[in-house]
Amino acid sequence: MRVLGIETSCDETGIAVYSSEEGLLAHRVHSQIDVHAIYGGVVPELASRDHVRYLRPLVDETIEASGVSLAELDAVAYTTGPGLLGALLVGSTFAKTLAFSINCPALGVHHMEGHLLAPLMENPDLPLPFVALLVSGGHSQLVLVRAIGDYVLLGTTLDDAAGEAFDKTAKLLELGYPGGPRIAALADLGDPKRFAFARPMTDRPGCDFSFSGLKTQVLMEARHLFKSGNLDEQGKADLAASFQQAVVDTLVLKCQRALERTDAKALVISGGVSSNQLLRASVKSLELDGVQVAYPAPEFCTDNGAMIAFAGLTRLSHGQKDASLAITIRPRWPLSELPRVS
Ligand code: KG4
Ligand code: ZN
Repeated sequence: MRVLGIETSCDETGIAVYSSEEGLLAHRVHSQIDVHAIYGGVVPELASRDHVRYLRPLVDETIEASGVSLAELDAVAYTTGPGLLGALLVGSTFAKTLAFSINCPALGVHHMEGHLLAPLMENPDLPLPFVALLVSGGHSQLVLVRAIGDYVLLGTTLDDAAGEAFDKTAKLLELGYPGGPRIAALADLGDPKRFAFARPMTDRPGCDFSFSGLKTQVLMEARHLFKSGNLDEQGKADLAASFQQAVVDTLVLKCQRALERTDAKALVISGGVSSNQLLRASVKSLELDGVQVAYPAPEFCTDNGAMIAFAGLTRLSHGQKDASLAITIRPRWPLSELPRVS
C-alpha cells in the first residue's frame, strides 16, 4: 500500500509518500519560520495562507521524487487535528479533494499519534507496551502505549508545554523564534550549573509537568544580571544552559517514574523538543536500566508528512478510512478518543 501523507496543523507544510513494502519513498517539508519570525510566534491566518501557497507545489515535488504517480497511490492520509483551525482546513480540504479525484480513500490522522508512532518508522519491533514522551510546542505528555490506538495518559503539563517553555524563555532572552533550537545552540556555550533552577514537580508524586515557573525564574535571574550589568553573552549562555538542563532533568526523571509505574521495557521520545541533543543523550542513559530507548531522526521529530503517512498507513492497513466526503477537522482532540487498532 502506498500512502500520501499531508501535514498542515501548524507552521510546517509536510508531504510524504510511504510504502508498506519499501518504507519512506520521499518527503518534503516547507517551514514557515521566515513568515512568523518577525512576530515572535505563529500567526494563524498567515499560516493558513502559506499552506495554501505551498501545498500544491510541494505535493508535485514529493510525488515526482517518490517515483510513484498520483494514480498509483492507494490512499491519502492527512492531519485532521489537533492544531490551528484554518491550517487544518487547508490540508483537510486539499487531501479529501485529491483522494476523491484519484478515487482512493482518505483518512484523517491525529497529529500527536503521528509523533507517537514516528519512532516506529525506524524501530518497527519495539516491544509493547512502551512509554512515550511527547514533547512539542503544544503538548507535553507521557503516554503508555498498550497497542496502536490504546493510549493511557500517565502525565501532562499543568501549564506551558516543554516547547512553549523553550520558546517563551528564548523570547525573554531576545533570542528570536523558534526558541528551542536557539536556546539549545546558546546552551552549548554556557555553564549548566551556574544557575540552580528548580526541577518543577519532581518533589511530588506522579508524572505531571509544570514549566511556567521555570520561565519566571529565568526572567528574575536575567533581570538581576541586567541590573548588575552582567547580562552579557556569557550570562545569556549560562541562563540558556541552566534552563535547558532543568527541563531535561525534569523530563528524564518523569520518564523514569513512568517506566517504573508501568513496568514497560521501552521508551520513545517524540515531538519537536525530542530533537534536543541533551534530551536525546540523557534518555539514552536509561538504557543502563535495561530499557530500550528509541527516537526519530531529528528531521522526523519536528512536524513532517512522513509521520502522518506512516500513522495513516498503520490504520488504513487495518481497514480504517474516512466514512464520508465531509471535511471534518478536530482542532482539539484528546488522544484517548482514538479507536484501537486490533
Ligand atoms: O512538534 P513540533 O515541530 O510542532 C508542534 O506540534 O508543536 O514542535 C515544535 C517545538 C517548538 O516549541 C520548538 O521550539 C521546539 O519544538 N524545538 C526544540 C528544539 N527544536 C525544536 N526544543 C528544544 N530543543 C530543540 N533542539
Ligand atoms: Zn507537532
